[in-house]
Amino acid sequence: MTLAGRHLISINDFSNEEIEAVLNLADEMSSALEKGKRLELCQGKELYTVFYEPSTRTRSSFETAMHRLGGTVVSHAEAQVTSSVAKGESIADTIRVLERYADVIVMRHPLDGSTRLAAEHSSVPVISGGDGAHEHPTQTLLDLYTIRKEKGAIRGKSVALCGDLRHGRTVHSLVIALARFEAKITCIAPPDFGLPDHIRDILKAYRCKLTEYESLEDIVAEGSLVLHQPRVESRESRVESRGGRGTPERSVSRLQTPNSRLQTGFMSFLLENLDVLYFTRLQRERLPTREIGGAAEESYRINRQLLEKSRDDALIMHPLPRTGELAYEVDHDKRAAYFRQAGYGVPVRMALIALLLGAVEARVSEGPKETKLAKDVCGVRCLNPRCVTNAECYAAAKFYQVNPQLLRCYYCDWMVRVV
Ligand code: NCD
Repeated sequence: MTLAGRHLISINDFSNEEIEAVLNLADEMSSALEKGKRLELCQGKELYTVFYEPSTRTRSSFETAMHRLGGTVVSHAEAQVTSSVAKGESIADTIRVLERYADVIVMRHPLDGSTRLAAEHSSVPVISGGDGAHEHPTQTLLDLYTIRKEKGAIRGKSVALCGDLRHGRTVHSLVIALARFEAKITCIAPPDFGLPDHIRDILKAYRCKLTEYESLEDIVAEGSLVLHQPRVESRESRVESRGGRGTPERSVSRLQTPNSRLQTGFMSFLLENLDVLYFTRLQRERLPTREIGGAAEESYRINRQLLEKSRDDALIMHPLPRTGELAYEVDHDKRAAYFRQAGYGVPVRMALIALLLGAVEARVSEGPKETKLAKDVCGVRCLNPRCVTNAECYAAAKFYQVNPQLLRCYYCDWMVRVV
């Protein structure tokens, strides 16, 4: 198996062995950088970054990585206004042009599945820098690298994912990878901010058991001292596809303000039992209204008081940017790993670029599992309103056949039940 010429859009595009090959090479990159060695592995190669959404870490660490490999970079920040997309150009046409200039393209875009569509139209590797609320696979590579480097292994570690797990793309890729590497996963999310159904369906395939907290009852039932989650009133709306019955798309209508005293006990209980606590911010840009976020955001906040009660060797991670969930007073604690984590983005992305460009050959025997595309799905549309197939008119819907009744969108992974 080779990684040369491949795309990375979903973490499931790489097998476990391939992920480990990236992490191993990242270790080599990291020690070469520490020794001040000059690497010219990608001399003469050009990396294009095309970002239709804001970015601090992903774009700059990719660009730094390419510079440190001796390659060159062309950077399209704010591509939604600076590129011909502002004149109505499609993703497909943009990529068909850029593939003639670039050796590798990194793209971030607000639509789910947009980077998969780009990859379909590119003869050079496309790396997703995040597509809507779908996935962020390179963030996951550096998250796995952080856990492995600082905790010695991924397998068997207890990891809690905390925050807006519904709209956050980093946790979607990460939870799949953690399940594949057999970590113990706890999800802590306010009601209606938990993992979306399609991610749960993917996790089922790995027989992954999630421990989830979202209500007082859940936690008391487990015999802990704890405590409190904000209550939520939700309404259900059903979307129908032409090809079959829709799955319910839940949306939040109102959240109560949480009780912070009880929440403190809840969090410290968890911290005592966890190797890693991975926080995420509320993805306000993907919420239907601004008011929804307020109370939910307040319900997950880590501060010095909580850290004092937690394990000495716990790791506090965050993909950043932070908003209210991570107090600045935590920053000086050795357990606060988030800035180190962001730093690992450079060696990890150096390794990835070098492998996709074939500058280094990975020794792996097993590639990702192949899934067959469904036939006879004419007229079926993806139910995800943010799916690229519902926005770019030439992009025909395509599905994997999960079972006779269930299809999975090839672009955004949402499930469609057919009758
Ligand atoms: C994340 C993203 O863009 O999804 N940021 C990142 O790449 N490190 C997380 C976020 O925006 O919350």
